[in-house]
Amino acid sequence: METVLLDWLALILRWTHIIVGIAWIGSSFYFMWLDSHLEDPTVPDEEVEGQLWMVHSGGFYRVDKIMVAPKIMPRHLHWFKWEAWWTGVTGVLLLAVVYYLGSAAFLIDPDVADITKMEAVGIGVATLVIGWLVYDGMYMSEWGNKYTKLSGAIGFIGLCVVAYGLSQVLSGRAAYIHVGALIGIIMVLNVWIRIIPGQHNLVDARKAGEEPDPTYGIRAKQRSVHNNYLTLPVVFVMISSHYPMTFGHELNWAVLIAIFIIGALVRHWFNLRNSGSDAIWPVPVAIISIIMLAGYVSVPGFTGPEKEGLKRKVVFSEVQAIMKTRCAACHSAKPTYEGIETPPKNIKLETEAEIRKHAAQIQKTTVATNTMPLGNATKMSKEERLAVGKWIASGMPSE
Ligand code: HEC
Repeated sequence: METVLLDWLALILRWTHIIVGIAWIGSSFYFMWLDSHLEDPTVPDEEVEGQLWMVHSGGFYRVDKIMVAPKIMPRHLHWFKWEAWWTGVTGVLLLAVVYYLGSAAFLIDPDVADITKMEAVGIGVATLVIGWLVYDGMYMSEWGNKYTKLSGAIGFIGLCVVAYGLSQVLSGRAAYIHVGALIGIIMVLNVWIRIIPGQHNLVDARKAGEEPDPTYGIRAKQRSVHNNYLTLPVVFVMISSHYPMTFGHELNWAVLIAIFIIGALVRHWFNLRNSGSDAIWPVPVAIISIIMLAGYVSVPGFTGPEKEGLKRKVVFSEVQAIMKTRCAACHSAKPTYEGIETPPKNIKLETEAEIRKHAAQIQKTTVATNTMPLGNATKMSKEERLAVGKWIASGMPSE
């Protein structure tokens, strides 16, 4: 009963998380687009930096961009911050419900590290808190702001270290989710602690008839640039649990970094375009990189236990016995594993028809990668993975 409730709670949180995330990222893309399409105002106005006209849903919209803060403050100024806030809140709750309150098999994998669930939760939470403090501290420091290339490089290497470190202690998917959560938290707090207060400062100074302090604006701009490059990577992490070939890879942390770089490249291309450049080099570089990455992770021999192969013949009865001992605890009509009440993804692996039907997915999750059994909760051996792989590769013989 309890886990059914958790599932529903996760559903509501995930649904909300996606909706508010779309609103946040959508509005940030929209403002980037606005900024890059500004023209001189139709009627000259010295306060107006740029203007653009749009038509949508039956009306015409005129947008004037005013830098620093308008001389006459409008009655109502709309702030874009709640989308970020709610994306952050639902994200943290979702992490807690799925990974901290849910089955331990999501979080830990005895093949990766022999730690308890509590230790894993501690590592996860500490990574998020310390990660933010280090990042923010660096960019609040004098040198972090002065030598932006150096601090950028340190930030990137730091992210690689976090990805590598987490992949050595948590299950692959939990490591990915925590890297994504850290990026997400950095983005949300950037908005709330560094960007919005900077803008408040501008508005307040203008209202008080003073010159606003420019350092707030510079800092806000820097954090916006970070958020801009982090959007595509963080969205990848949100969908990563669907792709065992990434988080289930032996070098899953390196695969994650490669995908981050590709995402940032694509973002860079948009930025170039928005700034009026015709350069398209990031696109072919990103396409070639993703093809190379896909090739690298898909070549048998790089991943999982396929490397050595198996000489002897494997027939159905052997595979069924393996499914019974290693999978049925979760993937059966009545799962017995703690925290699992219905067969995950409605995949049951008891009858011959069920096993044959899911053969391709079984190959992906237990042979090409070690992502199933979840967290290797049932201690499937390498020999068993080889046997399942051999059976599928040799055309699934009955006997
Ligand atoms: C400890 C419980 C547990 C065990 C044991 C287990 N699984 Fe799973 N399995 C899950 C859960 C939970 C999911 C759903 C994961 C998700 O939500 O992304 C799942 C999903 C799957 C999927 C779908 C993957 C996808 O991304 O669509 C396949 C295929 C699968 N398991 C195969 C197996 C096989 C084969 C075994 C045995 C070798 C096995 N599982 C053992 C819990 C388990």
